[in-house]
Amino acid sequence: MRYYIHVQLPLFLMVLAVIFCSETVVMLLLPYLVHEEAGDWHRGIIDAALLLVISAPLLWLLIVDPLRGVALFERHRAQTIIENAAQGILTINAKNIVQSMNRAAETMLEVTSQAATGRPVIDLLPAWTPASLQERKFETKVTTRSGGSRPVAVSISPLDPDRDEGHILMIRDLTEQYLAEQRRVEAAVMRAEKLALAAQIASSVAHELRNPLTSMKMLVQTNREEVLARGMPVEDLDLINQEILRMELSLREFLSLARHSPQRLEWIQLDDVILRTFRLVETRARQQQVELQFSPASKPVTLNADRDHLQQLFLNLAMNSLDAMPSGGKLTVELAESEEGMEEIRVSDTGTGIPPEILGRLFEAFVTSKPTGTGLGLVVSRRLVEEQGGSISAINRPEGGAVFTIRLSRNPDVVPTVGADSFPMSHTVS
Ligand SMILES: Nc1ncnc2c1ncn2[C@@H]1O[C@H](COP(=O)(O)OP(=O)(O)OP(=O)(O)O)[C@@H](O)[C@H]1O
Ligand SMILES: [Mg+2]
Repeated sequence: MRYYIHVQLPLFLMVLAVIFCSETVVMLLLPYLVHEEAGDWHRGIIDAALLLVISAPLLWLLIVDPLRGVALFERHRAQTIIENAAQGILTINAKNIVQSMNRAAETMLEVTSQAATGRPVIDLLPAWTPASLQERKFETKVTTRSGGSRPVAVSISPLDPDRDEGHILMIRDLTEQYLAEQRRVEAAVMRAEKLALAAQIASSVAHELRNPLTSMKMLVQTNREEVLARGMPVEDLDLINQEILRMELSLREFLSLARHSPQRLEWIQLDDVILRTFRLVETRARQQQVELQFSPASKPVTLNADRDHLQQLFLNLAMNSLDAMPSGGKLTVELAESEEGMEEIRVSDTGTGIPPEILGRLFEAFVTSKPTGTGLGLVVSRRLVEEQGGSISAINRPEGGAVFTIRLSRNPDVVPTVGADSFPMSHTVS
């Protein structure tokens, strides 16, 4: 309807105006050209002939020719766009015979438009089947002149949805995509090799350090009780304890790379694991004047997971946050249900933020900005999260500090918790 009002109506009015003006001229001329005694029939014929002679060139000059010019220009424009499109474009008729193709299609299929026109499309795309028209898209490899093969994706749409006049095929070259995928696989293999090397180092280092560390820990604990009984300060011993914890954590990272312990699944409360982590790091947090804050969900979150693995995950993240806040700040852990069967945990801090140069490689082995870091904490963390059917990602907050978002899958039997983006009132631990 709008098309008729915007396009057809002005055109119709213009034709009417031309005919009206021509007829006025004819009426003025008619007394000079026709004898007064001539009959109506005679006058009518002269009138019609004059109207035709005057209005036809006018209609041509004022309406038809400009419209033809616009149509030719539009056609030329469409042809230029198609010809220079980066995607290959090919048209076929109702019998699947090639009608035309653009330059990109010529390059991708390594055939000239002239040679392709009139040939069945299956000659150019061997994966073409009668079902292709219904499926609307497929991927295939076309043989190149050098004997190699080029992966392409083809999507098909009808030229005119109302009539069976043929189809238009859009062809996309997937070579770059395939190369990127290949590079990704190579990078993964490299990472696996690095991890294998780490695993070898891990076994020997872990065995050397584990026993002395355990003895040190026991001695510190025994002495702490004695010192406490005598009413003397125990801060130094707490500090030693914290450092032992840090060493144990590194050791565990190495060990978990060397011989990753299989998951021992049990029903656990996520809140418990997080609060336990807070207890493990609270002495260090106090020394650094870091506030620990936990925002639980409105109902307890229960997961079918490995308690030790989750413990290690949160410990890794908490230790990193504390490393990033040497002179005070806030470490916050928030829980929220993200989607069906998934729990979302956000660990954020107000620290230095992740150095931009390592942000893109954060979860790769041996990527560290710390003089004494191994760069394995987040590799291990990612593995633990993926084992739990989840994902982990990190960003820097505009106002400073880093946020790690962890999504963990929980067992479907679990009591449903709060809605997706509700973050309930928080309470402070420490
Ligand atoms: N909360 C954070 N704030 C700022 N930077 C962070 C944070 N968490 C991680 N990073 C950056 O990511 C790097 C890698 O962390 P990751 O835990 O894998 O290794 P690490 O802490 O350097 O060493 P370790 O293996 O002993 O944990 C860190 O060196 C640090 O630069
Ligand atoms: Mg770390």
